[in-house]
Amino acid sequence: MSQSLLTHINKQKVPNHIAIIMDGNGRWAKEKGKDRIFGHYEGVISVRSAVEACVEAGVNYLTLYAFSTENWNRPKAEVDALMELLVNTLNTEMVSLHKNGVRLHVIGDFKSLPAICQQQLSEAIALTKNNTSLNVVLALSYSAKWEIKEATKAIAQDVLDGKLNVEDISEDLISTYLNTAHLPDPELMIRTSGECRISNFLLYQLAYAELYFTNLHWPDFRKEHLFEAIINYQNRERRFGKISEQIINNEVSN
Ligand code: FPP
Repeated sequence: MSQSLLTHINKQKVPNHIAIIMDGNGRWAKEKGKDRIFGHYEGVISVRSAVEACVEAGVNYLTLYAFSTENWNRPKAEVDALMELLVNTLNTEMVSLHKNGVRLHVIGDFKSLPAICQQQLSEAIALTKNNTSLNVVLALSYSAKWEIKEATKAIAQDVLDGKLNVEDISEDLISTYLNTAHLPDPELMIRTSGECRISNFLLYQLAYAELYFTNLHWPDFRKEHLFEAIINYQNRERRFGKISEQIINNEVSN
């Protein structure tokens, strides 16, 4: 099934960067009469599928919203279980990810993570820093409003220190103060579980992204679903504020 869908993907128009809000783990587990954390464990299998699908389709960047700033407000047992799952997953998956050329990045309030998570993540980032097949970006203790607040403070401080002129503050300069300074903006954002919200995720970077919502809960999301999302994206016309004729003429002249 997934292999036949892969052949329908136009390799010339694959999104360079896909961002995913992996939602619905808790509901998926509850529907099966299980504890919410069971859904998070199953969600790791979907993470593996998404990574493999991106490599096969030729996507260069995959950002996964794994833990938001707001998720700290969940019951302590669930937060602890999620952090433990992160550490265990890094332990079990890193060798294989490294062998397959995956480079790991993290965005978010790194220092707010438990010490053991920080240590495992730092090791994984260092181990994979020269890999080039796929960049996997984990958004951990991340929220866009937090990121924009931090960027604003850093810009204000640089102005106060005389390192930056107010006139030099441009849209591109703001990008360089975000956690994602070294990453391209996503062209496609996928959210599972039927919720049609952005939920404080990459607000600046998603300005022109195509949004794709599916009713599937994250633990049911497999390779073929990512391929379906890419095919759906490829059938959209991205106008960036222009009109249709301008886009078509530009494609013809290219
Ligand atoms: C949202 O579902 C999911 C999360 C808050 C955590 C996502 C974590 C994983 C998929 C596993 C760990 C990931 C890595 C990269 C190791 P929800 O709990 O909000 O579900 P609900 O909306 O049904 O309650």
